[in-house]
Amino acid sequence: MKVTIVGAGNVGATCADVIAYRGIASEVVVLDIKEGFAEGKAMDISQCAANTGFNTRVSGVTNDYSKTANSDVVVITSGIPRKPGMTREELIGINAGIVKGVAENLLQHSPNAIMVVVSNPMDTMTYLALKSTGLPKNRIIGMGGALDSSRFKYYLSKALDKPINDISAMVIGGHGDTTMIPLTRLAAYNGIPVSEFLSQELLDKVAADTMVGGATLTGLLGTSAWYAPGASVAYLVDSILNDQRKMIACSVMLEGEYGQNDICIGVPCIIGKNGIEQIVDIQLNDTEKAAFAKSADAVRSMNADLKTVLA
Ligand code: NAI
Ligand code: 2OP
Repeated sequence: MKVTIVGAGNVGATCADVIAYRGIASEVVVLDIKEGFAEGKAMDISQCAANTGFNTRVSGVTNDYSKTANSDVVVITSGIPRKPGMTREELIGINAGIVKGVAENLLQHSPNAIMVVVSNPMDTMTYLALKSTGLPKNRIIGMGGALDSSRFKYYLSKALDKPINDISAMVIGGHGDTTMIPLTRLAAYNGIPVSEFLSQELLDKVAADTMVGGATLTGLLGTSAWYAPGASVAYLVDSILNDQRKMIACSVMLEGEYGQNDICIGVPCIIGKNGIEQIVDIQLNDTEKAAFAKSADAVRSMNADLKTVLA
């Protein structure tokens, strides 16, 4: 089982580290454009093996896609963050160029791979990867919901003062501060609705904290987070490579599900060896439906900025 991760930065390297540490794949290749950077990260991760006991082979390459050949899963984390003074359109233009080029290079050498898109704005980059490569929709998965759901569970576990693994909860919609939708109504502590334990006021605070979860960390760290994002990608890759058929909120192309078409946005999916095995089209209540439609409008308006890249 071979995984390639493009972008040896914070998220890409953390993902490689978690995949190796947990033995999710036998081989991980990390690729970056920065000379020597991926090689250095891979060597550092590999030198953990003697003391943590993993057998995964981790290697790094500078822009040499031949080394990524025959990967089962490819992950795209390459991109730049938004800089002061930069417009959203400028950011999308730069990252879209990177993601499109990287996706083409990856598929040249791994034509059968499942592709996981992480670079932001993630829903729009997933849509771009799908449109520009023409891959079947089950093979392009945007990672955002796994991370947002883990932040939701974190805030719920703090509010409940209960172990995080006893909590089940999901965030759907776009991967953005104002577009994600924590499904509070369906969140549960050992099968019991969390509303049995927490007041509406507390539940609203948990949802609000979840939605700004990424921004809170950027404020504290001075750059966007990487431990939970990297671990969330590894969790998704595990479900693909080991055909676990976990239900994970992922950004996928919708064709009528949730009343939407021609958009990649976060919804519950069964993830297995074929990538998206099934989109789980659950019944939302009227408030959730309205929030989902609003989120889809916002994502669609970002997708409109891809016009020149996709032309
Ligand atoms: P980073 O700046 O630490 O790493 C990005 C890496 O990509 C750099 O090492 C850079 O040299 C490399 N790169 C740039 N262009 C490249 C190209 N054409 N080919 C190969 N490598 C290239 O950034 P970080 O923190 O790792 O974040 C990466 C991306 O993931 C960003 O777009 C960020 O916004 C996004 N992100 C998405 C999350 C999600 O849930 N979807 C969560 C966290 C971050
Ligand atoms: C995050 O949610 C910024 O997408 C990044 O941490």
